[in-house]
Amino acid sequence: MTSSPIKSVAVIGAGAAGAAAAVALSAEDAFDVIRVFERREVPGGTWIYDADPKTPIVLHPGKLPTETDPPLKTPARLPTTTPPSPQYRYDRTPIYADLTTNVPAIAMSFSDRPFAYGPFVPHWIPKQYIENYFSFHQADKHLSLNTTVEDVSRIVGKNKGEYKWKLKLRRYDPIQHVDDWWEETFDAVIIANGHYSVPIVPQVPGLNEYMKKYPGRVVHSKSYRTSESYSGQRVVVIGNSASGHDITTQLVESRKPQLPIYQSRRSKSLWDGPDTPPDIEWKPIIARFDAEADEIIFTDNTRLRNIDAVIYCTGYAPSFPFWNTEANGGPLYDYDDGHLKGIYQHTFFRSFSNTLGIIGMPRVLTFRSFEYQAIALARLFAGRNTKPLPPLAEQEAWEKKRLRLVKEEGRKFHDIIWDNGETMGWLRFLFELSGLPVLEGIGRTPPVLNKETRWAIEHVRKYPIPDRGKAGDDEAAVAEDGEWLVVNHWGRGKDSLHFI
Ligand SMILES: Cc1cc2nc3c(=O)[nH]c(=O)nc-3n(C[C@H](O)[C@H](O)[C@H](O)COP(=O)(O)OP(=O)(O)OC[C@H]3O[C@@H](n4cnc5c(N)ncnc54)[C@H](O)[C@@H]3O)c2cc1C
Ligand SMILES: NC(=O)c1ccc[n+]([C@@H]2O[C@H](COP(=O)([O-])OP(=O)(O)OC[C@H]3O[C@@H](n4cnc5c(N)ncnc54)[C@H](OP(=O)(O)O)[C@@H]3O)[C@@H](O)[C@H]2O)c1
Repeated sequence: MTSSPIKSVAVIGAGAAGAAAAVALSAEDAFDVIRVFERREVPGGTWIYDADPKTPIVLHPGKLPTETDPPLKTPARLPTTTPPSPQYRYDRTPIYADLTTNVPAIAMSFSDRPFAYGPFVPHWIPKQYIENYFSFHQADKHLSLNTTVEDVSRIVGKNKGEYKWKLKLRRYDPIQHVDDWWEETFDAVIIANGHYSVPIVPQVPGLNEYMKKYPGRVVHSKSYRTSESYSGQRVVVIGNSASGHDITTQLVESRKPQLPIYQSRRSKSLWDGPDTPPDIEWKPIIARFDAEADEIIFTDNTRLRNIDAVIYCTGYAPSFPFWNTEANGGPLYDYDDGHLKGIYQHTFFRSFSNTLGIIGMPRVLTFRSFEYQAIALARLFAGRNTKPLPPLAEQEAWEKKRLRLVKEEGRKFHDIIWDNGETMGWLRFLFELSGLPVLEGIGRTPPVLNKETRWAIEHVRKYPIPDRGKAGDDEAAVAEDGEWLVVNHWGRGKDSLHFI
């Protein structure tokens, strides 16, 4: 045990980030209580495949999660039971039947356990992997499944100057058909709730009327499951990142005889060449929908009539409905500039005396980055971090500087670039803050990102990049193995890992 005042830690979510947190906290052997609250019936997060997406998810064009995924009203006194809440919580996942991973297994998996195989695997492999990771490290004992964290409030502790975190928790009782509510108090909290749950759809003139007139025609990629559902249909896909590209590809590959798939792109992706691929017709963004005429009008004034399906692949926004804004002195997330308020190094919150952390927000390597964040937070909470966090003023300066930088460069606060070394710098910070475990073997060792892993990130890819060579690059494929390619390097334009 350590002299740290933190003896109990709650983790919100049992996806890959929650798994990394549970294992790192457990390994410190410094906490009396570790509780991992997960609203689903199993660990796995994103990687749980829900064959029934509970369609149609009601789309709210132009609205943010603060409106579409609001806090649930919590009972005044706990513990108690209430009739089951009917409020939709976006807890189904966006995984579709034929989805495979898009990051080479060596770089996607945690450092101490390989994926069953690789480099790119079907969705059930990461799902099994996360479940097994909990049990392999005997961290499954910390899980509280089917339990939704509905409120996180900072409260004053019994001792002078002491603060705690009170969590209000809800679990559906399927025998009594009621919601059981209770509360638990912790010294520290790690938020690992993911950020691909609540879909976002842009506000486009006429879209609301169009959706009303043609119910079920417009969906978000969160509801997409198989290409067969669109067989023989004329489909417009909107978006050109991982979902837009992959779903367009799946639709095209599944159609015989061929009907074109219309793909509305706001920007070019790494996978786009100069020419439209066969059976795809590229469109610019949509200017408006005309429900009366059954038309979609694009910004180049071209029109499509009598479309059968519109799939918005326009991504997701983070949602923290459990964060009690009033009790905690303000919101956790600023939707105007897309960043966690009061954050340092995408992981630590300076306003809460090192008792609150978050894992998984940056758009960067996934599982492997979560591991660095989890070990750093576990060490900090245990009071065993080798390097201290800098003074609060320096942490605040970091946040301001980053806000300025991303604004200047026109990118997002939590997108960390691979190609310019930003990712390595960030991981190095977490690595050095954590330091080594103690000699007795208590604590996890922060992983290295070795040459082999870095090589895989830069050279092994799922999708071909069609216009290689045109910009004077030399990244032609040098080897092929069925469904994946080895390339000399990634080329120019968007960051190599922009699609993660
Ligand atoms: C369609 C799709 C494909 C992807 N493909 C890849 C890929 O190929 N490679 C890759 O590296 N990454 C991929 N990702 C990113 C993926 O999200 C990460 O790999 C990783 O799974 C994120 O883990 P997480 O733990 O941060 O979040 P999640 O996996 O979302 O887990 C969060 C967990 O928190 C739970 N939770 C949320 N709120 C509460 C609450 N209030 N109370 C209790 N529990 C709560 C959720 O139920 C969930 O289980 C993909 C994402 C999507 C959407
Ligand atoms: N394993 C896989 O193969 C796979 C498959 C699907 C998803 N994923 C993962 O899922 C996560 C989410 O990916 P995502 O593709 O759903 O979301 P995303 O990466 O956030 O992409 C959103 C897309 O919507 C576009 N967009 C936003 N607003 C638009 C508008 N008004 N009009 C037209 N286009 C608009 C964006 O264009 P800009 O690019 O111009 O901003 C971008 O192309 C990522 O982690 C990704 O790796 C993985």
